[in-house]
Amino acid sequence: ETDERAKQILSEFRLKNEELKEVMKRMQREMDRGLRLETHEEASVKMLPTYVCSTPEGSEVGDFLALDLGGTNFRVMLVKVGEDEERSWKVETKNQMYSIPEDAMTGTAQMLFDYIAECMSNFLDKHHIKHKKLPLGFTFSFPVRHEDIDKGILLNWTKGFKASGAEGNNVVGLLRDAIKRRGDFEMDVVAMVNDTVATMISCYYEDRSCEVGMIVGTGCNACYMEEMRTVELVEGEQGRMCVNTEWGAFGNNGELEEFRLEYDRVVDETSINPGQQLYEKLISGKYMGELVRLVLMKLVNEDLLFNGEASELLKTGGSLETRYVSQMESDTGDRKQIYNVLSSLGVLPSELDCDIVRLVCESVSTRSAHMCAAGLAGVINLIRERRSEEALKITVGIDGSVYKLHPCFRDRFHKIVRDLTPHCEITFIQSEEGSGRGAALISAVTLCALGQRRS
Ligand code: BG6
Ligand code: GLC
Repeated sequence: ETDERAKQILSEFRLKNEELKEVMKRMQREMDRGLRLETHEEASVKMLPTYVCSTPEGSEVGDFLALDLGGTNFRVMLVKVGEDEERSWKVETKNQMYSIPEDAMTGTAQMLFDYIAECMSNFLDKHHIKHKKLPLGFTFSFPVRHEDIDKGILLNWTKGFKASGAEGNNVVGLLRDAIKRRGDFEMDVVAMVNDTVATMISCYYEDRSCEVGMIVGTGCNACYMEEMRTVELVEGEQGRMCVNTEWGAFGNNGELEEFRLEYDRVVDETSINPGQQLYEKLISGKYMGELVRLVLMKLVNEDLLFNGEASELLKTGGSLETRYVSQMESDTGDRKQIYNVLSSLGVLPSELDCDIVRLVCESVSTRSAHMCAAGLAGVINLIRERRSEEALKITVGIDGSVYKLHPCFRDRFHKIVRDLTPHCEITFIQSEEGSGRGAALISAVTLCALGQRRS
């Protein structure tokens, strides 16, 4: 009986095929509005031009520095770009991870960028390359309105960042100023890209059909190659430009209201950016664990779980991390993993409790995969319409902790994307060190194009 009542509560997370199609259609509508000059301002999905274009003009070779800010880890990387006999890229990397202290994330922009420059300085010392003025590719995983590939203002922070004085400012300028303030090394900042873009390019290097990039990690977002003539925010008609959809903000105009549950509302209200990134909050790793915790608390309060009693830890916001959801769904049936996680949260579950908790995890993470699949299907169907091809063959490059580490997300996600995209043949590739390689490759191509223009 307990079981039935719990299942009933969880059934709200299940999305019917028709509903997923509706989400997909609305996403496409917002994407279209984001691309058009007259509706761009009010569209929730901003469709930001990236100035990464489809016409490859060759590439420089040599050492590049790459920065990766905005995922779980901040990283500094040294990337060697070379060419083999067939003139395709060969890439080797060295990288170092640094954790961003909380006060740098939520203090001032100057504090944050000074910290970044300090990490760079440390990295250059370690590899004895401080005397070199290296070209730099900066993966900055937030919504940026670009004016060029090396210039763009931060529209708004997402994913728990809040450093003041950055929004509305040129991010590359903030970085250059911080490097100047230190004065102990020089850097040629060549390109700034979103993580979805870096991911797409890093996979493009293996597979020339890779024209979509996606992240399902702390945040959730996608980019794709769009026909220049439909990117109304940028002049020019020829070729394609990569567009950063910033689809995480889908729903900010109310497009997802009937799909948002009471738990989603709590997650949003207690977040650092209420009313923002509503689609992302249904999907990404920053929120998934907390959603599971809120559902568990609801079941406790209805006396359906843990004898109606939660531990202090379980009552505390943020205590159930998303990686625990992955761990619990990896359980092979002996309930050990579930038991371990729950006891680390201070509750002693019965077998039935464990089974219910697993259902909760599955409900939340399956909805996440399906919602996300509806978005990607929207992007892929849009590409197919644009190219008026009977059958579209396309590759999607993907990265992010939820996609990579959750045991079932990927399969559930692939299935729904394929169900929703008839006449498309989709290959998914997981990106490895995508941001470093992608940012360096884009910088290498940009430098080459600049050289050609100058000469
Ligand atoms: C990394 C990429 O592997 O994945 C980053 O290099 C990206 O650029 C990140 O932001 C996203 O995943 P997560 O889980 O770290 O947010
Ligand atoms: C957030 C950011 C977006 C990024 C995504 C994945 O949605 O706004 O720019 O691509 O997270 O990291």
